[in-house]
Amino acid sequence: MRLSLSEQIARRQQGKAPSQLNDQRIPIYGDKQTATSETRPLTWRLAHHDAVLDLATYESLQGFVGLKQALDKPFKDVENMIKAANVRGRGGAGFNAGLKWSFMSPPDGLPRYLICNADEMEPGTFKDRLLMERLPFQLIEGMLITAHAIGATDGYIFIRGEYILAAERLVKAIDECIENNLLGTGILGTDFSFNLHVHTGAGRYICGEETALINSLEGRRANPRTKPPFPQISGAWGRPTVVNNVETLCNMPAILVHGVDWYESLADIKGKSKTPGTKLFGCSGLVKDPGLWELPFGYTAREIIEDFAGGMVDGKTLKAWLPGGASTDFLTAEHLDTVVDFDAIQKAGSRMGTGLIMVVDETQDMVPLLRNLEIFFQRESCGFCTPCRDGLPWGVKLLTAINEGTGQLGDVEKLEELTRDLWIGKTFCAHAPGAMEPLMSALKYFRPEFDQKIVSAVGEDVIEAAVSQQPVVK
Ligand SMILES: Cc1cc2nc3c(=O)[nH]c(=O)nc-3n(C[C@H](O)[C@H](O)[C@H](O)COP(=O)(O)O)c2cc1C
Ligand code: SF4
Repeated sequence: MRLSLSEQIARRQQGKAPSQLNDQRIPIYGDKQTATSETRPLTWRLAHHDAVLDLATYESLQGFVGLKQALDKPFKDVENMIKAANVRGRGGAGFNAGLKWSFMSPPDGLPRYLICNADEMEPGTFKDRLLMERLPFQLIEGMLITAHAIGATDGYIFIRGEYILAAERLVKAIDECIENNLLGTGILGTDFSFNLHVHTGAGRYICGEETALINSLEGRRANPRTKPPFPQISGAWGRPTVVNNVETLCNMPAILVHGVDWYESLADIKGKSKTPGTKLFGCSGLVKDPGLWELPFGYTAREIIEDFAGGMVDGKTLKAWLPGGASTDFLTAEHLDTVVDFDAIQKAGSRMGTGLIMVVDETQDMVPLLRNLEIFFQRESCGFCTPCRDGLPWGVKLLTAINEGTGQLGDVEKLEELTRDLWIGKTFCAHAPGAMEPLMSALKYFRPEFDQKIVSAVGEDVIEAAVSQQPVVK
């Protein structure tokens, strides 16, 4: 049974959807006064309006200019343009969007799909929600440009079920686009036709994995599919499909308006990063002003945490930070001068992920913190492959015991073993390795905190005996 959107939303409202964050506390751009479509292409319209929710206002602010430019070009030219711009996917992996599109099977007159991944359940990440709630037409325009480039006939915005306001605003914007011939058949008098639908998820982190998302959209159990075949060859309903993140798609309109050279030149603003374009960076945790800021690549973590987020709250000292969501590796105060981009963060030993930093202060105990994170990953395992389904609960069991003072000698080594057993290539999808990244890095940088709890639990004499291999008589 397929529920209508209003039925889906009503269901979510009856449930325990987390309360929406107070919008006023999230400054979506850094410098309100100077933001233009050339300096802050994703958020400049918010310098003039809290949100752009009607078509007339969007059109008065360069709305659908990029689409018109795209429709004037052959679809291959648009694909090549985006490939040359090197728009790196903002869903986490950073893959060149145009290159991804180029793997689509050639058109054959049958349906082809574009899916917008708006699942956004990564802890600490809230960038896509803002783009959808405040600028729904920008996402629709980005999807239309992409659909034209890949020859998609139908599109779906697969949105996290708790994002009720975003879903409502998107549906309203889609309706207005249909009324004004911006969606549907023969868009703007051309032979390009595209239908767009909003589908709310039932609240699973794994639905963010693109093939699990496709299964869920089709009404199947949300477990990942084998790749290959990749979705571009066989995706939704076995047809060629592209899945792109919300923020990735929102990059398209400005590139069509200002061109590839402009997009590339944005990276040179600070001269520290080769990644083109801008990104919604963010910071949460015990900082003075948690929020989101659209910035060109090139800023260091220190600049984001201290200059934009106002630094740590009074009296707190930073101990560790996650660069882009819970499924990335911890870095420490020593890494604060690392530029937050795909390559530099990888070189420092982590992943940029979603680019929204979470900070940990020196009074926070890593063991309960990790236990909390691993409870999340355990709960969100789809259960399809054994190492993840059984390994993640084992990790939680060990962390719980260590935290509660009932840990045993060797438990930390078992955790280390687990990080190897659930690593890339050992499980069916990237969920389990993602769960291991914070654990592995916490053990690397903060091992004494784990060991200390074991020492307190078993007693120093047991440790000493184990070291000297003598039996302890108690
Ligand atoms: C467990 C898991 C969860 C994911 N969650 C999301 C998500 O919420 N949003 C997203 O865009 N990508 C998510 N991804 C990545 C997607 O599989 C996919 O790479 C992405 O949507 C591609 O879009 P992009 O190329 O525009 O980045 C997730 C991946 C995994 C393994
Ligand atoms: S790694 Fe986890 S989430 Fe991924 S398929 Fe296996 S059980 Fe499912």
